Amino acid sequence: MFILVLIASIISLINAAAIVSRSQSYPSSQPAVLGPKTRLTIGNKVIAPDGFERSATLVDGVFPGPLIAAQKGDDFAIEVVNELQDESMFMSTSVHWHGLYQNGTNYADGASSVTQCPIAQNHSSLHTFSAPNQAGTYWYHSHYSVQYCDGLRGPLVIYDPHDPLAHMYDIDDASTVVTLSDWYHTVATVLRYVIGHNASSSLINGLGRYDGGPMSALAVITVEQGKRYRMRLISMSCDPNFQFSIDGHNLTVIEADGELTEPLLVDQLQIFAGQRYSVVLAADKPVDNYWIRNLPNTANASYEGGTNSAILRYKGAPEVEPATVNTAPTNSLAETNLHTLINPGAPGIPEYGKADINLNLEVSVVDGIFYVNNVTFKPPTVPVLLQILSGAQEPSQLLSNGSVIVLEANKVVELTFSTTGLGALHPRWKNFIDRLTTEWNGYTIYVSYIVFRIITQSMTNLSPL
Ligand SMILES: *[C@@H]1O[C@H](CO)[C@@H](O)[C@H](O)[C@H]1NC(C)=O
Ligand SMILES: *[C@@H]1O[C@H](CO)[C@@H](O)[C@H](O)[C@H]1NC(C)=O
Ligand SMILES: *[C@@H]1O[C@H](CO)[C@@H](O)[C@H](O)[C@H]1NC(C)=O
Ligand SMILES: *[C@@H]1O[C@H](CO)[C@@H](O)[C@H](O)[C@H]1NC(C)=O
Ligand SMILES: *[C@@H]1O[C@H](CO)[C@@H](O)[C@H](O)[C@H]1NC(C)=O
Ligand SMILES: *[C@@H]1O[C@H](CO)[C@@H](O)[C@H](O)[C@H]1NC(C)=O
Ligand SMILES: *[C@@H]1O[C@H](CO)[C@@H](O)[C@H](O)[C@H]1NC(C)=O
Repeated sequence: MFILVLIASIISLINAAAIVSRSQSYPSSQPAVLGPKTRLTIGNKVIAPDGFERSATLVDGVFPGPLIAAQKGDDFAIEVVNELQDESMFMSTSVHWHGLYQNGTNYADGASSVTQCPIAQNHSSLHTFSAPNQAGTYWYHSHYSVQYCDGLRGPLVIYDPHDPLAHMYDIDDASTVVTLSDWYHTVATVLRYVIGHNASSSLINGLGRYDGGPMSALAVITVEQGKRYRMRLISMSCDPNFQFSIDGHNLTVIEADGELTEPLLVDQLQIFAGQRYSVVLAADKPVDNYWIRNLPNTANASYEGGTNSAILRYKGAPEVEPATVNTAPTNSLAETNLHTLINPGAPGIPEYGKADINLNLEVSVVDGIFYVNNVTFKPPTVPVLLQILSGAQEPSQLLSNGSVIVLEANKVVELTFSTTGLGALHPRWKNFIDRLTTEWNGYTIYVSYIVFRIITQSMTNLSPL
């Protein structure tokens, strides 16, 4: 998995993003909001977010986990405490802060067996890090096997008091964080062996319904006519992507994955696992109830019986389910139309193939196995961290041949990704792109290939803490 070394290098190119809080009025119906210096207690609890009871792996007993809210420039100190008890699920854990660069603090990144040992039962780990120049919508999740599918996922927002787009909205607080997730009636310890397992339901802010299930409570997002809301959409999906829309309303995209964008009006957007978008919703329609729609790409997904849905309720509207109808989108988000608000500029000579190092990475899939330049990832028999503790000195020693590409420091590197044998929108390929776009702003996505420019920074020595 060459990503390991590349990601470490990609960390070097970060330009400021900017985002905001205009309203600090957290409604009392919202779960507790945690600050950047806090504790997350990981435990088990039986919950029924879609009406089906199952034991889950949760942060502080809730799904999704509580919002961690910070201001731009804040230092983080988050203690993760493992109080897991349910032996039908994973008993170890780790928590990753998705999208934060961890420049110089890899040990706080939460990637179990890579940058830290998993946190064992009845143990805890303190994650101290900063996120200078980062602001926007992020999330945290278990990074221990596929544990996050059992519930260990939550939002993390870094507000920017000087957001250049603050004039576009009036409200941006815990009530405008919208989490989108798939949910399973099977525990992740079993799921991990089932390729193509279909999610049982999808949840919006932790509530939903499943096919053939009870009329379980749906999430209600309350707005006041005349106000503009910065909705921070976060896909905490394990697998499916979602088509998100709100009946009768346009949405203006202003942020993608922690980068401000030039405002772009859409009537629907597709959001893949790990992605985040901030969209401005103007509550300028008649006082009423409107369906919020979040269709997963799983077989036979529909809005039947209120599945894959939540409610947008204007203050003053009756407490009933909406009667609005779904209309086909005419202006879906095309990611190629998204442009960063502040263009960081590609480093080096801005011409194709003119970087110091020009790499072609050909992604293919054969019999369900993914390859990069004809090499597939094979997990090392000894975790990377232990290899380093045991004296590994060179990144190329950590993984099997072909899975590590070592880059010289302080060079401009051009990466060209091309795909063969898989659709451009395959969720895993899209996730793969997202892993990189998350780490780097100023990207361009073409239908079948993408070109990145990065600058490497000194990161050559591996040494234990
Ligand atoms: C990462 O940290 C180093 C050392 O503090 C600093 O020189 C470098 O500019 C930082 N990189 C980014 C992208 O912020
Ligand atoms: C963790 O603590 C619980 C509760 O005190 C106890 O039942 C369990 O045996 C402990 N587990 C380990 C591995 O020490
Ligand atoms: C998921 O749905 C697809 C499409 O209907 C089906 O082919 C597949 O067998 C399902 N997977 C599982 C594990 O049930
Ligand atoms: C959405 O925006 C389009 C383009 O500006 C406009 O024609 C349409 O009426 C808007 N729809 C709603 C529901 O406001
Ligand atoms: C989808 O619907 C079709 C037609 O009703 C049915 O045959 C099929 O079993 C369904 N697939 C799943 C995964 O529910
Ligand atoms: C991968 O293998 C195919 C088929 O053997 C070959 O045509 C292609 O050049 C190889 N690609 C790389 C990057 O080695
Ligand atoms: C690693 O792969 C390269 C290119 O495929 C090959 O030339 C080299 O001999 C391999 N090294 C080892 C140790 O297998």
